[in-house]
Amino acid sequence: MSHDFATALAATASAVNQRLDELIPPTTGPEGRVVEAMRYAVLDGGKRFRPFLICAGADMLGAAPESALRTAAAVEMIHCYSLIHDDLPAMDNDDLRRGRPTVHKHWDEATAILAGDALLTLAFEVLAAKDTSPNADIRTALIAGLAKASGAAGMVGGQMIDLAALNANLDVAGLTHLQALKTGALIAFSASAAAVLKNDDAAQVALHAYGLDVGLAFQVTDDILDVEGSSGQIGKTPGKDKAAGKPTFVSQLGLGGAKMMARSLLERAVGHLDIFGHQAGLLHQAAVFVLERKS
Ligand code: IPE
Ligand code: IPE
Ligand code: MG
Ligand code: MG
Ligand code: MG
Repeated sequence: MSHDFATALAATASAVNQRLDELIPPTTGPEGRVVEAMRYAVLDGGKRFRPFLICAGADMLGAAPESALRTAAAVEMIHCYSLIHDDLPAMDNDDLRRGRPTVHKHWDEATAILAGDALLTLAFEVLAAKDTSPNADIRTALIAGLAKASGAAGMVGGQMIDLAALNANLDVAGLTHLQALKTGALIAFSASAAAVLKNDDAAQVALHAYGLDVGLAFQVTDDILDVEGSSGQIGKTPGKDKAAGKPTFVSQLGLGGAKMMARSLLERAVGHLDIFGHQAGLLHQAAVFVLERKS
């Protein structure tokens, strides 16, 4: 990881952690248990890669840092909700996440479902507030973009295909579709969110295309780390994909084939940054990070 990238990633993580802490204050009311579970799932962990893409894009295009941070907090809420539900017994049935017990292990399944639901809805409440953008059209575009990336045409749709494909022999085109929805859509929204904030159509098209390729590669490396990583490194139990009979690029192409696929996706991703010239340095490094990451 380059020094510039590591510094920028740490700065984004610290800023988004602070926003998340403020946006989900603890409560002493009878509903306190679900809020505690939300805070547990969202704070203290995670690479904050999606927030990084949003903030680096905002820096590049000159979008307001506060707008970017609130959008980043909303995306991280959706991401953490997707992880809580992904870990449930009805889905991947995982006990370990970010090096700690999963939410349903720490509390119970009902609390995990509700904490996910509440994070999903809070994300849109945050985007709808004037603090995110004074321009109602921009707020609406953010809400519509995040809703599409998260729902049946995005993450939820990908999760459905992922679960329905257990023990199936998906071909590379089918797998690409699955992973583009499951992980690509939210990362593509993140990469292009700053262009939405700036109402810059040309930048949005290029950054969305970049984000789709980066997002696909991100899931390919997630599948590689499930095979090559240790639980200490990835904070999850490794080997789960094979044990569950999940079709992944690793199961279909082998480790070498999956690594080649990730490399060529990232070459294509950085090609979409050409129109931004040197300004896109951090986004270029983000693509390299996806290829080299060990957690
Ligand atoms: C894990 O996402 C789930 C996938 C979509 C591959 P991350 O690898 O971004 O998880 P955290 O946020 O860093 O824990
Ligand atoms: C899940 O993919 C991606 C989501 C949309 C939550 P995985 O099931 O491979 O993610 P991990 O490995 O549990 O983080
Ligand atoms: Mg899963
Ligand atoms: Mg999982
Ligand atoms: Mg995985």
